[in-house]
Amino acid sequence: MCGIVGYTGPREAYPIVIKGLKRLEYRGYDSTGVALHNGKLNVYKKKGKVAELEDSIVGTNLHSHIGIGHTRWATHGEPSDRNAHPHQSASGQLAMIHNGIIENYNQLKQELINKGYSFRSDTDTEVLLNFIEEIKKNNECSLEEAVRVALKRVTGAYVILLMDESDPETIIAARKGSPLVIGVGKGEHFLGSDASPMLEYTKEVVYVNDYELAIVRPDELILKNLGNEKITPYVQKLDIELAAIEKGGYEHFMLKEIYEQPQTVYDCLRGRLDAAAGTITMSGIQQYAEQIINANRIVMVACGTSWHAGLVAEYIFEELCRINVEVEYASEFRYRNPVINKGDVIIAISQSGETADTLVAIENAKNNGAIILGVVNVVGSSIARMSHAGAYTHAGPEIGVASTKAFTAQLAVLTMIALKIGYIKGTIPQDRYLRLLKELEEVPEKVAWTLKHADNIKALAEKYKEARDFLYLGRGYNFPVALEGALKLKEISYIHAEGYPAAEMKHGPIALVDENLPVVFVATRDSYHEKVVSNMQEIKARKGKVISVISEGDETSAALSEDVMVVPEADEILAPMLSVIPLQLLAYYIGLARGCDVDKPRNLAKSVTVE
Ligand code: AGP
Ligand code: GLU
Repeated sequence: MCGIVGYTGPREAYPIVIKGLKRLEYRGYDSTGVALHNGKLNVYKKKGKVAELEDSIVGTNLHSHIGIGHTRWATHGEPSDRNAHPHQSASGQLAMIHNGIIENYNQLKQELINKGYSFRSDTDTEVLLNFIEEIKKNNECSLEEAVRVALKRVTGAYVILLMDESDPETIIAARKGSPLVIGVGKGEHFLGSDASPMLEYTKEVVYVNDYELAIVRPDELILKNLGNEKITPYVQKLDIELAAIEKGGYEHFMLKEIYEQPQTVYDCLRGRLDAAAGTITMSGIQQYAEQIINANRIVMVACGTSWHAGLVAEYIFEELCRINVEVEYASEFRYRNPVINKGDVIIAISQSGETADTLVAIENAKNNGAIILGVVNVVGSSIARMSHAGAYTHAGPEIGVASTKAFTAQLAVLTMIALKIGYIKGTIPQDRYLRLLKELEEVPEKVAWTLKHADNIKALAEKYKEARDFLYLGRGYNFPVALEGALKLKEISYIHAEGYPAAEMKHGPIALVDENLPVVFVATRDSYHEKVVSNMQEIKARKGKVISVISEGDETSAALSEDVMVVPEADEILAPMLSVIPLQLLAYYIGLARGCDVDKPRNLAKSVTVE
């Protein structure tokens, strides 16, 4: 999720580690900390920015030739000093930092509590650390062996760096699912989530693979698998510049985040969806299942892209749960003195968790007796804390102002909630329920397929970048996607764009159509498809330029379209997670072609924390 840095060698470690953490700041984070060793282990950590940590330890003796540093993106335990990393083991002998999610931490924690352990933090990381210490103590084995044994029991994603007070020059590292790079210097080694912390010291790096464990000393790097077999480190020469690393090799954060979506949707489903078992595990939702099932209505409250996610969710919840759903702009909901009854369930959707209108809207609703569920990306954010319960989207930090990966993650979470509630309520036939779980599990690879088949979109952007207006049209589940596509284009390229239900054209907007107007149809094959095709014909008959997002193999729509963008077949309930992807890319490439600042569009902020 966020960032790790390590150093062992002849230099002062602290300056290297703290500078390395600053190099990783672009990844976004909520707290930070370092561990050093000058005869004993010293840990300095706090909620907030790296600079705040630095200021808080000015004047402290920070001498050390070994150190690890961490920037946290909280997943378990809200951002706070005590939940910041590094964590120390119960004995105080070990210090560890971790990026990722330990899915089975609850079970491990219970085992440790039964052995008398207590915990200083709410994190999954501290559980793993004490689990390692317990094995080391119990088996009377080396720390390296204890790590190997422990990691064989762990499910989830991790990159960990471990220091041992009794060994002032060794860092033990391991990874599965989160990145780890080791920089090879002369009599020194560097570790990082990417190469940015080490680039100025060495360009020789080793990329550690999943299920590998590294024992790192100033003049020694030993790589092993969890079976304790040695692996020859493959040292590569880096020829990449710092600026490029920050965006993972992509030109902009927005493009990086669009291409992260196979992983972020997977991270969202991870530990929750088990299609084979036919289960969806969401403890936050489970505890309010009764209230949701008996709610007289569910109100989705959000702004912007998150509001579009709420609109998709309206169709999904009403279809699967047969519960009345309303979708409210938070800014309207908070001011129009709405009727809120006890027993109403409000679902607040927000990437940042800090949007002022959404926060106040749910505060008012909560004061009137409504149950508040949060679907939020930032752990411990104001909206998350204001909610009675909820489910995090685990999309990781979203740096680009235009929301992309957060939107598909919101849809994944909202779909799982609707499936879970519909299943409990008995409003989804068992075979459809199991089929949807299976299809939902396949969404990450279908997102990857969509990205792999998007090569034509850059040329499309060139072709239409001078248009003065766009129309985006869709029906059913794809109507909110049309709205989202229009918003993406507006906020990134500054071209005026409107989204409409495709059938609405005949009630006025069709007067806009002429040979200069690109009309984007979100037209994946679904129960509305025939009608959408007729709408395409209406536009074509008036010389509108039809650009369509279509399902693979849909020749009918392709024949009516000037240009097409293709997505794989999917159940209409899941299709928005795919049909939005080409529209994200279209907005990005048109914005780029028009010389716009796609990561920081004019007049916009990433989080609207003011009214
Ligand atoms: C979306 O691309 C915009 N950045 C904006 O509409 C955003 O979705 C809206 O401000 C809501 O933000 P939130 O999800 O953080 O609450
Ligand atoms: N799951 C750990 C925590 O919540 C690590 C989060 C991260 O990757 O920064 O503290």
